[in-house]
Amino acid sequence: MDTHPSFLIDGREVAFQAGQTVLQAALAAGLNIPHLCFNPELEPIGSCRLCLVEVAGCKLSACTLLAEEGLAVQHDTPRLRQLRMALLTFLLEQGKHTCIRCERTGDCRLQDAAIAFDAQPEASLTSQVFPPNDDSHPEVSLNRDRCILCGICIQASRKLDGKNLFTFAGKGGDVMLTVESPSGLLKDSTISADDHAVRLCPVGALTRKHHPVQASFSSFDGFEGMDWGMPTEFSV
Ligand code: SF4
Ligand code: FES
Repeated sequence: MDTHPSFLIDGREVAFQAGQTVLQAALAAGLNIPHLCFNPELEPIGSCRLCLVEVAGCKLSACTLLAEEGLAVQHDTPRLRQLRMALLTFLLEQGKHTCIRCERTGDCRLQDAAIAFDAQPEASLTSQVFPPNDDSHPEVSLNRDRCILCGICIQASRKLDGKNLFTFAGKGGDVMLTVESPSGLLKDSTISADDHAVRLCPVGALTRKHHPVQASFSSFDGFEGMDWGMPTEFSV
């Protein structure tokens, strides 16, 4: 007999273990609640809001909500679908997510979610000003124009790498990820390509150089019409 307590997601019974969040229990049960800033190797951050669910009319992040016996969680509702789509569209418009040029194509949470929800940026990228990228390090690149400000690298650097190499600076729409080094550049930091901070970045913002996957298309400038299924070894 199953002795695990359970709760409901969209009417489906989901068993959980004490201490699990709604997102952890849902993922363990094979339910796909999209998420960007949750990583099982880290404490929940709750920054991206993509994992939004509703409980008794309140919108909450599934990654920070502890599962409780009898909880009735809504995930697949028209309103939440609309909010997720708006959030994804916003994120896609805030960065240069030209996946066909990105080393992480095929291994990117934002790309996965965009495909799953058929989300596309609506605004043109041409007039946008992005914070500077950092290509100063021989092994690692920081592509701030792809950073979704999730905070994973901050926690991973501190807790898993023991280095504390990243922080956020700025306010409002000017927030950006900064590097803790004398010059503020990666080349003067202790980062290595093997750092967990690099490995766990959910998009192509912190990437290893000399990555075996290099896809680039000099003629490709937009998101629309991207060949999502392009083989990752393709290179021009
Ligand atoms: S560099 Fe990656 S892990 Fe760090 S905040 Fe940006 S998207 Fe998140
Ligand atoms: S995964 Fe829950 S807020 Fe980001």
